Amino acid sequence: MTKADGILRDIEELAKREFLPIVGPRKGKILAEAVKKVNPRKILEVGTLIGYSAIVMGKELGGDAEITTIEMHAKEAELAEKNIRRAQIPSKVRVIVGDALEVIPTLNDCFDAVFIDAEKAEYSEYLKLMENKLHKGTVVVADNAGIFADQMRDYLDYVRNSGKFISTFFQVGEDGVEVSIRL
Ligand SMILES: C[S@@+](CC[C@H](N)C(=O)[O-])C[C@H]1O[C@@H](n2cnc3c(N)ncnc32)[C@H](O)[C@@H]1O
Repeated sequence: MTKADGILRDIEELAKREFLPIVGPRKGKILAEAVKKVNPRKILEVGTLIGYSAIVMGKELGGDAEITTIEMHAKEAELAEKNIRRAQIPSKVRVIVGDALEVIPTLNDCFDAVFIDAEKAEYSEYLKLMENKLHKGTVVVADNAGIFADQMRDYLDYVRNSGKFISTFFQVGEDGVEVSIRL
């Protein structure tokens, strides 16, 4: 088992004990595959928590990939940095502490892959704020498109019906992820 796999198992156990809303291994596998497929250099994550999903993505990518991940709570961000350091994944991870609604407009990068997993009712706002930082082929993965579909209705309507994305829902148990490719 790699260091990263060991850290992921530890976080999964902690999440079970403390009811932490991590993406988990099954949806995590879909996330990692969707991201890896586009061979990304720049990845943006909204909602770090303690670093599980950043490790899930980063352990599949090379040393030239850089994940920028945003977390509004400093304590979680600090734990995430610690977990990510211990996981020894090849890609670089930059944890930014702040409200994604304020941080996203300050980012200068253009992103090849995005994972959205923060406040469900804000998903469409995050997406609109980052739209000028995406390109044709960018993959945007959104968590909880099953259990929180009602709260994410604006977001799901947009990626499915705006004509700007090709979007697919992947069901996992009662939940699922929405994977959208920018056209
Ligand atoms: C579901 S958890 C993220 C889980 C993580 N992606 C994983 O799978 O390991 C959501 C996180 O988003 C953070 N969050 C919620 N709204 C946010 C916002 N507007 N800006 C930044 N972080 C936010 C919360 O503090 C929480 O840590």
